[in-house]
Amino acid sequence: MKKVITYGTYDLFHQGHYNLLKRAKALGDYLIVGITSDYFDKSRGKFNVHDDLMTRVENVKKTGFADKIVIEEYVGQKIDDIQKYNVDIFTVGSDWKGYFDYLNEYCKVIYLERTEGISSTKIRNAHCIRLGVIGNERILDRFLDESKFVSGMEIAGQFAENDDIDYIYKAKKSGDLLQYFSLENLFKNIDAVYINAPLSQRSDLIEKALKAGKHVLTEFPFCPDYNKAKELLDLARENNLLLMEGLKTAYCPAFGKLIALVKSGRIGKVLSVEANFTQILGKELENQIRIAGGSMLSLGAYPLLAIFKLLGYDYKKIDFISHQENGVDTMTRMNFVYDHAMASALVAINAKAEGDLVISGTKGYVYVPAPWWKTEYYELRYEDINKNSKFFYKFEGEGLRYEIVEFIKNIKEKENLYLAEDDILAESKVLQVFQNKNLTSYF
Ligand code: CTP
Repeated sequence: MKKVITYGTYDLFHQGHYNLLKRAKALGDYLIVGITSDYFDKSRGKFNVHDDLMTRVENVKKTGFADKIVIEEYVGQKIDDIQKYNVDIFTVGSDWKGYFDYLNEYCKVIYLERTEGISSTKIRNAHCIRLGVIGNERILDRFLDESKFVSGMEIAGQFAENDDIDYIYKAKKSGDLLQYFSLENLFKNIDAVYINAPLSQRSDLIEKALKAGKHVLTEFPFCPDYNKAKELLDLARENNLLLMEGLKTAYCPAFGKLIALVKSGRIGKVLSVEANFTQILGKELENQIRIAGGSMLSLGAYPLLAIFKLLGYDYKKIDFISHQENGVDTMTRMNFVYDHAMASALVAINAKAEGDLVISGTKGYVYVPAPWWKTEYYELRYEDINKNSKFFYKFEGEGLRYEIVEFIKNIKEKENLYLAEDDILAESKVLQVFQNKNLTSYF
């Protein structure tokens, strides 16, 4: 019996997939189809696969060509599968020509002709979200670079007022980004906006965009005024628009898994969370202060995310200690007291400390090394070191691609955002309290 194996994602199952499977089956007597797992796809740079694994498996099954379906979960699995199932022929479409020649050592490799004019990417792009950019601040170049990894959207243009300052970034300088000279014109040509303007202008711009019927992805922090934040979230909800805070950690593959692991009780009851994020910004310091403010407004959102996800919003007491330079907090420690737990976070924009996250429980603790806000690796540690375990989930590039994927996906099909309204409001409240200087000690 001649055994054939082929692999693919089979997202939004289309004629090209059908033809390929039919041809693959015709090469032998028994066809094995490998379908990539959601996690494996993400780790190889396919970020916005639309259909979940079960749907993709069902679609392949329905063709009736597959005698066996396997899930592809890791690099190198093809060699293992070929050997395990005693495969005679490995085949894929001609778009991969040459790429799998290394498998000739294990079986015959055949590249089948690809069906012209159709692909999952093309289908995803057919309902492309046109995203406008408002603002032109430091992170924009990274955002644009990362957005190239996301299909189903295109950057339609930019409106930015800050021509006169020193900080005109690559995107605007290069002239690649279509410039709009009024917000109204930009709004006419887009479905959604990414707001990258300084914090002082952000809530006004969010409101304008929502009133123009646009979905909004905004830089963090969302808004350091609780009532205003609530008003904006209400406005979005009432108009059935998506309003999302772009805090990348919330959407990276490992962070949610880390929280779920802790919630499942593996370290017992959580008694303490310590999260630090410190930077020495050097010549960018002044610019960062202009864009967001001091260390709390610039970085506080990251530890707050970890603290609220792990301990909830019902803290009994909060206090801050800040180091100030020229009236700006360049280093701040915040302390939370909960009924049966405590949390502490250090943020700095002109000082450096270890940027790790430690979650301590009654049975053990989780250690996430710096930079924990780009969560990729963490360890479960116990008194008995034999019980320790390590976890790794790849964090790609600058990580902004994860939040962009989430934004685009949620515009198309609303699901619950990981960074929900309650998290955003809790963040706003803390930032507002921090700005009330009576509650804060300075040195
Ligand atoms: N395929 C094909 N003809 C097409 C599209 C895909 O023969 N028009 C083949 C691929 O070469 C591969 C298999 O179908 O052997 C599964 O491909 P997959 O990557 O899942 O599909 P694509 O449509 O190419 O997906 P994407 O656009 O996300 O890359």
